[in-house]
Amino acid sequence: MAKQYIYTVQASLEPSKCKIGKTNDLERRLKEYNNMTGKSKENVYRYLFACEVKNMTEVENDIKIKYSALREEKSREIYFFNSELFKQYVTFIKSHPLFVKEIFIKTEDKKEIIKIVKKTTPSLEERGLSQRDVLQKAQKANNDEFYTRYEDVEKELSMYDKKIWKDKTVFCNCDDAVDNNEKNTSAFALYFLRNFKELELKKLICTHYSGAVDLFNQGTKGYVFTKDGFKEFKDFPKGYTGSFDDPLSLKILKEEADIVCTNPPFSRAIDYWKITVESGKQFLIISNIANPVTKAYIPYFKDNKVWAGYNEIDWFLTPKKELNRAAGYWFTNIPVKDRPKYKQLKIVSLKEIPEKHKQYDDLKILLVDNCYIPNDYEKPFAVSARPILNGILEKGYKLIEENTSYIPVVNGKEKFRRVLVQRNS
Ligand SMILES: C[S@@+](CC[C@H](N)C(=O)[O-])C[C@H]1O[C@@H](n2cnc3c(N)ncnc32)[C@H](O)[C@@H]1O
Repeated sequence: MAKQYIYTVQASLEPSKCKIGKTNDLERRLKEYNNMTGKSKENVYRYLFACEVKNMTEVENDIKIKYSALREEKSREIYFFNSELFKQYVTFIKSHPLFVKEIFIKTEDKKEIIKIVKKTTPSLEERGLSQRDVLQKAQKANNDEFYTRYEDVEKELSMYDKKIWKDKTVFCNCDDAVDNNEKNTSAFALYFLRNFKELELKKLICTHYSGAVDLFNQGTKGYVFTKDGFKEFKDFPKGYTGSFDDPLSLKILKEEADIVCTNPPFSRAIDYWKITVESGKQFLIISNIANPVTKAYIPYFKDNKVWAGYNEIDWFLTPKKELNRAAGYWFTNIPVKDRPKYKQLKIVSLKEIPEKHKQYDDLKILLVDNCYIPNDYEKPFAVSARPILNGILEKGYKLIEENTSYIPVVNGKEKFRRVLVQRNS
């Protein structure tokens, strides 16, 4: 009886997709694929994985069922691809009861095609920029290009009551969804694509930011990726930048979004918060851990429009997929149940707070640290961001600072930034 195989194949010009199929002859099947694209030397099909199975039709059907949300179209065996998804496909196939053995295929490396492109980028001088401007810009862009790891998205989002997602439209407004370039595929988009059915989502909308439009970059390439039930499509509206404050993004936010979920660019965080918090929509976003003691954000915490989510995020990925440390935290206006971090608050009488964790500054304002909170002190006192993140404002204390944070001065020396809180009367 002929052997039966399951394979994953990919075309070099379509790195965001792969096909998972069945065959009795791996060699012939690959030739068939490459004959289809025979005229194009640049588009070469290659096996990513192949294995022998006992009943290929059954295995193929199980894959279709398991990954229905990740199929490009309902009627075709084309699946979204990136390394994270690919690992999942392979693990599923290898743990299938009908899996026999993996087949290793040697493929010849295609000769790299080198194109000579005429230099068209204007010089710094031509653009009226100094080396310093460029360095500053690069630094900013660097922070803006910190990508969230899949496990951090999963860890936080799975903490919320599953019911919050049911029949909802999730809007990821700083997220490339299954982009041609794998590194641009957002972990947010992946999480919602992967769990679309499970969460009973109605729609997922992700927008791709094309970069600032200036004199040297006039064409906009922003797009809107939509998954509406089984339908998935990308639109490239004319003149659309994909910026979260582009009129079209604002329209989607206002008219379609129920829950906004993303890690927005660091350099635009203030504007982003303003738009998102004021939109009246639910949101779950990543931002700087110091926001509760930062002037621009304090009013949101004070007015109970935003609170901390469950988790801190210490690591992000650079565009080269290298780990980079940065102090992030989840912020939301979605209920956080029995906040686990309450346990880290030490609410005790003033005299029980160890001396090394309390002091008075030059204005005689009490400063407490290490999450100690006095429960018998009626005047305002200063705390770091940590107790706010740990939920002190839900435990009978309020922020009293309207517009700014508090920088204590002790013996003439400035201490780190805090915020003033007071026990509710
Ligand atoms: C901190 S990264 C996070 C990316 C992704 N949301 C994630 O969590 O991995 C911010 C992203 O926003 C994009 N971006 C920068 N300015 C933007 C804007 N005005 N509107 C929307 N996205 C923007 C950046 O290109 C970058 O991909």
